Amino acid sequence: MELLAVEAYFSGLEGALPDSLKRVKDYALEHQVPVVSDQVGGFLKLLCGLTKPKRILELGSGISYSTHWMLLGWPNAQIVSVDANGDRIELARGFLEASGALTQVELHSSWIEPFLETRLGEFDLIFLDSVKKDYATLLSQCYKILLPEGLLVADNILYQGKVLSLLPEQEKKYAAGVGSIKAFNQAVAEHPALDAHFLSIGDGLLVARKLA
Ligand SMILES: C[S@@+](CC[C@H](N)C(=O)[O-])C[C@H]1O[C@@H](n2cnc3c(N)ncnc32)[C@H](O)[C@@H]1O
Repeated sequence: MELLAVEAYFSGLEGALPDSLKRVKDYALEHQVPVVSDQVGGFLKLLCGLTKPKRILELGSGISYSTHWMLLGWPNAQIVSVDANGDRIELARGFLEASGALTQVELHSSWIEPFLETRLGEFDLIFLDSVKKDYATLLSQCYKILLPEGLLVADNILYQGKVLSLLPEQEKKYAAGVGSIKAFNQAVAEHPALDAHFLSIGDGLLVARKLA
């Protein structure tokens, strides 16, 4: 079974995207900006609809595709979203304004690491979608600011399959990222206060609940 064909079949069943998402996706496709897959987006929407998080932290806003998916699931959420790329933050601001959702989102143009040091335990859901080589070092900071019963969700935990095998010619470019994702996955799996689930959705999605 070919995975891309499966994804296309399921997208067909789910029908057309709402305008708020379509605007962002069209831009991302035209300008080759990375965004979550629609399967991951749909799952984020479901998670937010089920858990109704008051406060969400998004690490890696990009141009707000995942932000829009989460708000579609739970429009009352307040989202703090961080990205070091100021141009993307401004595009995100424009897209959120066009969807009438900007009041729900606090956008920060900042590196994640120093930003996290300024936050206290206050988030019901953290969505991690930044550069893969940082995942391992971000885990303890994310854990600290997640509320008990809160969810840590991380995208790309398979790193396009590279965590399973890396060709010799890929070693130089990807070894650091692969090492970080593997260390992150292992640490989450062994964490005594996280109930971790590794899902084969999109490029691999972690959903971990912080135990009370
Ligand atoms: C995969 S994209 C995010 C896509 C977004 N979640 C979406 O679906 O629309 C990753 C983003 O993380 C940002 N990023 C990566 N490492 C970062 C860091 N250490 N601090 C801040 N932003 C970072 C990049 O600038 C990029 O826009």
